[in-house]
Amino acid sequence: MVDKKAVGRTKAASKELAEAKPATLSQIQYEHQARMKTGYGELDRVLGGGVVPGSLILVGGDPGIGKSTLLLQVCRELSESMDVLYISGEESPQQIKMRADRIGTFSEHLTLLCETNLELISRVIERERPKVVMIDSIQTMYKEDVSSAPGSVSQVREATAVLLRIAKEKGIAVFIVGHVTKEGVVAGPRVLEHMVDTVLYFEGDRHAVYRILRGVKNRFGSTNEIGVFEMCESGLAEVLNPSQVMLNGRPAEASGSVVACSMEGTRPMLMEIQALVCHSNFGMPRRTSAGADLNRVNLLMAVLEKRAGLSMSTCDAYVNIAGGIRMNEPAIDLGIVLALASSMKERPVGPKTICFGEVGLSGEVRAVSMPQQRVSEAAKLGFTVCILPEVCLDAVKDSGGMKLVGVANVGEAIERVLWPGRR
Ligand code: TYD
Ligand code: MG
Repeated sequence: MVDKKAVGRTKAASKELAEAKPATLSQIQYEHQARMKTGYGELDRVLGGGVVPGSLILVGGDPGIGKSTLLLQVCRELSESMDVLYISGEESPQQIKMRADRIGTFSEHLTLLCETNLELISRVIERERPKVVMIDSIQTMYKEDVSSAPGSVSQVREATAVLLRIAKEKGIAVFIVGHVTKEGVVAGPRVLEHMVDTVLYFEGDRHAVYRILRGVKNRFGSTNEIGVFEMCESGLAEVLNPSQVMLNGRPAEASGSVVACSMEGTRPMLMEIQALVCHSNFGMPRRTSAGADLNRVNLLMAVLEKRAGLSMSTCDAYVNIAGGIRMNEPAIDLGIVLALASSMKERPVGPKTICFGEVGLSGEVRAVSMPQQRVSEAAKLGFTVCILPEVCLDAVKDSGGMKLVGVANVGEAIERVLWPGRR
């Protein structure tokens, strides 16, 4: 039996195929569009050099972290030179104005709209033709012909599709705010990540002042970069020298405190790693970690036990990265190891010592990327001794006046740091 329908489908497909014509790269033309600067260097860096016209940018983060504040501040800067429309489904115009009054004075090129119906919003955008649109938040928007409630997966997805079309057809840059909930009950922005051009996450402890803006996906730039902000009385302020700020208030001569260096994209960042190791009163020792991955901490404790002879299996251990920030780079391993050892042995690490290096399961200290940049940053901030993987020594051409101590394994690192006078 010949399936006539299938034959028909194949014919139609081959007709389409005849019409579809591939092009070489040299045949494809595009107009170079300048990126729009947001007025915040920290945000521009994460975006890859500014906002690309016609792009869809998702800003995710926990409620209360400062997403609305950030976007309103960006509106303020952008509306100096172009028309910007801020659409809120969460707050009344009066509430937005109260927030705006804290931030500063605004130009007449910024207009506000409190609306959640996307059909109406599309029409307003069509009429007003702004260059940039802010949607706060995607969870409150709805399309009439989708029956489920605002915030459900299908509404969020449909709403984003509408905004995507607006952005691409009209060349309008659209920022979308998305709340992330821990339970994932409300459709989080994760379902939209594949639809938008850029995904930024605003993270940090709501009770701490520092906020990190991290690029997770970016069709127009690198995703390694971070931006650091501080929540102040009058909104978010950029933190231009995060290393300096992260180290503020560091205790001198305290055991269990070590400064490590992590690369965040192209930028080295120094931070204080703290550890407290004490004898456990219970059969099952407690381990907690804030800012560093707990599994990593457990692994490093096992390495210390087995490879450096520090018996920690009956000890409670608490690890914390000061400043409420989260760091995942393996180069902070050596910092965690030294902080744990320093606390356990109750011997302080020199106040002008910094370290970086990945630690392997055999206790070896492994090479990390960009050692020169890390050394230069530490020298700039007045550190005098740098503990680094031995294999990285050759890559550091300019020590900036610091004493470089190359180490091959954790035992050697502990020896050189906690008993510097022995050699
Ligand atoms: P918000 O931008 O409303 O968070 P989100 O939109 O992510 O839910 O702001 C969150 C917090 O920021 C809020 O608790 C108050 C604080 N805040 C300041 O400390 N200073 C300010 O100038 C502003 C505007 C907000
Ligand atoms: Mg908000």
